Amino acid sequence: MKKYLITSALPYANGPLHFGHLSGAYLPADIYARHRRNQGGDVVYISGSDEHGVAIMLNAKKAGIDYKKYVDGWHQEHKEIFKAYGVEFDFFGQTSAEYHEEEVVKWFHELNAKGLIETKINPQLYCNDCHNHLPDRFVEGTCYKCGYEQARGDECPNCGELIESTQLKNPVCKICESRNISEEQVTQYYLMLSKFHKEYREWFSTKKDLWRKTVYPYVNSLTEESLHDRAITRDLDWGIDVPLAEAKGKKLYVWFDAPIGYVSNTKQFFKESGRSEDYLLDWWQNKDVELSHFIGKDNIIFHTIIFPVMSMASGQAKPADEVPANQYVNLEGKQFSKSTGWYVDAKKALDDFGQNALRYYLISLIPENSDSSFTWDQLQVKVNNELANNIGNFMNRCFKFFQKNWAEGMDAELFDGFAKSSYGEKLTVDLKAFNESVDGFHIKKGLEQIMAMGFDANNYFSDQAPWAQIKADKNEAAKTIAFSTQYALVLGVLFSSYLPDLSQSILKYFDAVVSSEQKSALYQGDLSVLKDIFAKGFNVEGSVDALVPKIDDKVIKALNEDLKTI
Ligand code: MSP
Ligand code: ZN
Repeated sequence: MKKYLITSALPYANGPLHFGHLSGAYLPADIYARHRRNQGGDVVYISGSDEHGVAIMLNAKKAGIDYKKYVDGWHQEHKEIFKAYGVEFDFFGQTSAEYHEEEVVKWFHELNAKGLIETKINPQLYCNDCHNHLPDRFVEGTCYKCGYEQARGDECPNCGELIESTQLKNPVCKICESRNISEEQVTQYYLMLSKFHKEYREWFSTKKDLWRKTVYPYVNSLTEESLHDRAITRDLDWGIDVPLAEAKGKKLYVWFDAPIGYVSNTKQFFKESGRSEDYLLDWWQNKDVELSHFIGKDNIIFHTIIFPVMSMASGQAKPADEVPANQYVNLEGKQFSKSTGWYVDAKKALDDFGQNALRYYLISLIPENSDSSFTWDQLQVKVNNELANNIGNFMNRCFKFFQKNWAEGMDAELFDGFAKSSYGEKLTVDLKAFNESVDGFHIKKGLEQIMAMGFDANNYFSDQAPWAQIKADKNEAAKTIAFSTQYALVLGVLFSSYLPDLSQSILKYFDAVVSSEQKSALYQGDLSVLKDIFAKGFNVEGSVDALVPKIDDKVIKALNEDLKTI
């Protein structure tokens, strides 16, 4: 059985998740994981909370809560949101946990032993009032590139420039708002990426025809000449201790420990689930495993340069096979922003629209090639015109007509011939093409292909017009419904990767007749199993309810009004 190790970026335990996160990093990975499982693959899907770093410390301080309590709160909250959206990780851990620290310390020592960690002395800012060192976002000031007044110590949000904090004009301490700031000379530990340039490029060049056009050329231009060494320690009181006696008081930089979280969480997953495999030998170091990292574009450098180097140089893990990074999802064309309140509460939206509608629209927004934009109006259009009219309507017409006219069920012979019919043959071809798309990480296209198959089913039903057929020849109508029922089953199986809730509402009619092996065969385009599935005839049992409720104008109008008040 082919093995797939799938990761989604560890979300910061630092505020609410929005549609950008879901569509950019979590839904695509969830779908890919379900897809590979549906094909019969052995899948481990890992994520967890990213709980260190200065941004979290600032917000915890602002909220007056201690760090651990603060991140635990968001961790719990995120777990619930993912569950409600049907994003099913095998394991969702925490980087503040002890098992994670253990793993990170091991990596540090391995990299150190290989000569990949060195110290450098550099100027850094210090607050004379609150007596804190001021790395990263602990300091703000005027950007020396563009003049923006709230540039952060690590980056200017206005011009996007990486900032050298000691060069900021008018620096202010973000912990106590003091301007009484001085410079100090400080030793930090660096990851000597420059030493690994040749090996890195050898590996990287193998990705030329594999990785997306938004990823490979960008990383290529960044790494062609050299790799820049990176400071991996900070003077902070929250994070993982640098495991060296002479580095007392220093913590590891959040981006050093976070990606190792994929590995530590896998270890913990096997431990807690009682699976006997070895997380390293059978998975992270196994060359037969396909490793893919699902992320948004701001995470590209870490997942295509730094973490792969850490993995190869330490010998702890294989580097990524695939990094299907996405561009950004915006809200009505403007970037989501927690600080200005320009985001939508993903939890409340669930109460309004439910999982199927939101997943459907958010999947259609996955920014695989370019940025996309969420709007309430489009949500309504997509759900009403596509999901409800195409899929919901077809299922409803088919099952209702079945029940009304064949309350005792239909005999097996009526189901014969679908696979070999022109409809079945087209469906087989389409199913194979669908599998190829999703295998190649074209997640959005996969949904479009399912919808096209749904459209064919819908057209078949309308063209045959069983309501007219039944007046002339009940047997003709029965055949139409038997074929439509087989379309419905295949669509139900297909949706299990994309809209698991909807899939269940369809497959509940078939539970008694179809096995999981048969579902997997159908999923991959082998319609020959239909013969066995319907060998004893079939009946639609239980109530038939509307599968996809339409979205009302009033609800959309109110939400649009809400946006105007931000
Ligand atoms: N903690 C880091 C990732 C560490 S991975 C070892 C992080 N967290 S995040 O919470 O800010 O973002 C989580 C994921 O969502 C990231 O992959 C990020 O790129 C992605 N996105 C955040 N905003 C997004 C959009 N507006 N659109 C698409 N993806 C977005 O980054
Ligand atoms: Zn201060």
